[in-house]
Amino acid sequence: MDNKVLVTGCAGFIGSHLTEKLLSEGFKVVGIDAFTPYYSRAIKERNMSSFIDNDNFEFYEANLINYNLKQLLHGISTVYHLAAQPGVRYSWEGFKEYVNNNILATQRLLEACRENDTKIVFASSSSVYGNAKLPENEKTPLNPKSPYALTKEFDEKLCTLYHETYGLNAIMLRFFTVYGPRQRPDMAINIFTHKLLSGEPIEIYGDGRQKRDFTYVSDIVEGNFLAGTSKIKFDTFNIGTGNSITINKLIKLLGDVAGVDPLVVHVGKAAGDVRDTRASIAKAKKKLGYSPKVKIKDGIKKYIEWYKKYNLK
Ligand code: UGA
Repeated sequence: MDNKVLVTGCAGFIGSHLTEKLLSEGFKVVGIDAFTPYYSRAIKERNMSSFIDNDNFEFYEANLINYNLKQLLHGISTVYHLAAQPGVRYSWEGFKEYVNNNILATQRLLEACRENDTKIVFASSSSVYGNAKLPENEKTPLNPKSPYALTKEFDEKLCTLYHETYGLNAIMLRFFTVYGPRQRPDMAINIFTHKLLSGEPIEIYGDGRQKRDFTYVSDIVEGNFLAGTSKIKFDTFNIGTGNSITINKLIKLLGDVAGVDPLVVHVGKAAGDVRDTRASIAKAKKKLGYSPKVKIKDGIKKYIEWYKKYNLK
């Protein structure tokens, strides 16, 4: 029973990579994805193409909000809960989708996990810290600056309540701006690459001196795998690199790697964006054995190579 796991959001950017990893490690994987319309179904189907026909993979196109989760969790030891309405900036106008897909969906899943005694690895976000002193560590007070970040903080607190009240095993991972092949189309590196390669100007929100701890997707997947397979019953970890660069430097790097001079325009700062992020990863190193491998220069090279091969928008 211990080798059957569930990945929610298995057609998404991170979910599809994690599913591949779990299958390659010999797990049987049940995947659920609702194909919410935030970005195209074609992209999500392509994300799953390497494993959709794998005999150890079982797929359900369904929504956590109304699906029979008790049945879905039968025989599942661990849930990697990646399904969500993502995105910092869309969360003002899309508020209802965040409440439904992040809060209500997670609460239903936690109820089912409790009934089935299933461990949950919850995908949280560096955005829960807001504008904090760097590097952010797991004890840094949370101070969300967007409705999206608020829903992630809420979900972390809900996981905590289920642990305290019912003894549910829960590990919360705060991912720091993830990039790599299949990156969501609304995220900066995907948008910048598209514009760079099509000769359009890149819109920088604000002065471009905001910093992000960009983390390559294989490192994020490793963090999830270590958390899901560890004996730890309840904890919170940052999953980042411990380094950060400004958006201006990132664009220069993308231009250098692509061999294109970037055209940029500055527009207003986006509501909900935090200024800088940089993870302290000492706790994940010590307790999970997490050790990120991919440096930004190498990650960007791999990303541009991938993008040129599969330039679906
Ligand atoms: C990302 C994800 O979208 C969130 O889902 C995730 O939870 C979060 O990382 C996190 O780490 O917690 P964000 O850091 O905003 O959020 O990532 P990007 O969309 O890649 O944006 C990075 C930076 O680029 C931001 O400062 C943004 O203002 C800037 N940007 C983005 C631009 O200047 N122009 C654009 O066209 C897009």
